[in-house]
Amino acid sequence: MVGNSPIQPLILAAGKGTRMKSDLPKILLEIAGKPMLGHVLDAASQLASDLTSIVVTGFGSDQIQKAFPNCAFVAQTEQLGTGHAVQIATDKLPEDSLVLVLYGDVPLIRAATLEAVIDAAVSSGFGLLTTHLEDPAGYGRIVRDADGKVAFIVEHKDASPDQHKITEVNTGILATSASNITRWVHQLSNNNAQGEYYLTDIIAMAVAEGVSVKTAHPSDQCEVLGANDRIQLAELERFYQNRLAKDLMAAGVTLMDPSRIDIRGSLSVGTGVEIDVNSIFEGQVTLGDNVCIEANCIIRNAHIGDGSQIKAFTHIEGATIANNVTVGPYARLREGSELAHSSKVGNFVEIKKTKLGEGSKINHLSYVGDSVIGKNTNIGAGTITCNYDGVNKHQTIIGNSVFVGSNTAIVAPVKLADGSTIGAGSTITKDVDKETLALTRSKQSQIKNWKRPPKK
Ligand code: UD1
Ligand code: CA
Repeated sequence: MVGNSPIQPLILAAGKGTRMKSDLPKILLEIAGKPMLGHVLDAASQLASDLTSIVVTGFGSDQIQKAFPNCAFVAQTEQLGTGHAVQIATDKLPEDSLVLVLYGDVPLIRAATLEAVIDAAVSSGFGLLTTHLEDPAGYGRIVRDADGKVAFIVEHKDASPDQHKITEVNTGILATSASNITRWVHQLSNNNAQGEYYLTDIIAMAVAEGVSVKTAHPSDQCEVLGANDRIQLAELERFYQNRLAKDLMAAGVTLMDPSRIDIRGSLSVGTGVEIDVNSIFEGQVTLGDNVCIEANCIIRNAHIGDGSQIKAFTHIEGATIANNVTVGPYARLREGSELAHSSKVGNFVEIKKTKLGEGSKINHLSYVGDSVIGKNTNIGAGTITCNYDGVNKHQTIIGNSVFVGSNTAIVAPVKLADGSTIGAGSTITKDVDKETLALTRSKQSQIKNWKRPPKK
């Protein structure tokens, strides 16, 4: 049974990744802020709902299990080869399943490509993902018979000079029934150049039993690249970012330079979005229609509404920004910032846990935290909400159409009622009534005809 069989992903990931020189097992190293294994699991999870992948681990099993509690695990204490890794997992394979063998360190594989491998397995009994490489050195080679049918795979180290010329290589990814793979891996021997149990030897066994091996191919070669060292990891990161950049452009986004954007999470966009160079998007970020992101911004877990503009060098984290808002340049919006329609936050302003009302402005050099600010209020340059008394945080409530003069300290908890005015340079410690002017600065004194001291 294969046609309607449930898919069982089996992910080989026991390799230590010595060349990464890391305390983490290789598959926990990240591409776009997500462990490589997470990318593989994501691709597999798109094939069917309710899949539980089986992961064969070696080095760092505990860390891997902690990071991926929804997988099933098999520990391979000695790495005796890819065939051995599958062998020890066969107990866990559901009887009627179609087993899809994947690799924890081959993270850029696409679900559509896996579907092609599965389709090949469903139609022939065995699906194998292969590709042609200009430089096939190191890879297992696909040996075909006179009719062009796959006959067997020979590993590079076991191959003859003629076989070394074959450019069609084994990616390692394959699919066949649980009963087939179980039967075959228990017949493997390690009588080869590396003294390993090669999973690739099951291809010849399939052919000997009259199962024809049908090949599928990735849509681009970076899908099947592995990461063995930091250089390859960085290359995969770039390939992946390039893929995301292309998806954004296909969705209509203007990227000033598609090689200078980094997305570590999910970025969803409306129409007419423009993104200048060197911005980083992390976590869940949504951009509405006609949003413009200038250069060098860091935006993490945020929503930015239609027509809003984020100017250069702005940091945004955990903020909700409504439509037609302007932020920056050099602004910092922290967790819990909510900026209403047509509000404005300018340069060198830090905002935390604050609701800024419609049309209100904090244009220059201010810190506003734990505050609620009404509509059409203007917060002058150098305003500080003193929200922390050294022990507890306190709230500042500012009404509609309030005018706060420059260089004001607002000592929370305090309320400034609608239409109130605060004179520049004040330290406000008491509530201010509606339509009232409050100012605490000392009177200016003047001494006429003042002579500056002469220079000595
Ligand atoms: C393997 C294939 C080769 C193919 C290449 C593609 C075999 C014998 N050869 O070679 O045909 O061209 O991949 O990259 O399969 N692993 C375990 N346990 C082990 C050994 C390996 O879990 O005992 C895992 C590794 O963590 C890795 C994957 O299997 O993720 C492949 O192992 P690796 O040693 O890199 O295989 P290659 O020798 O490159
Ligand atoms: Ca090997």
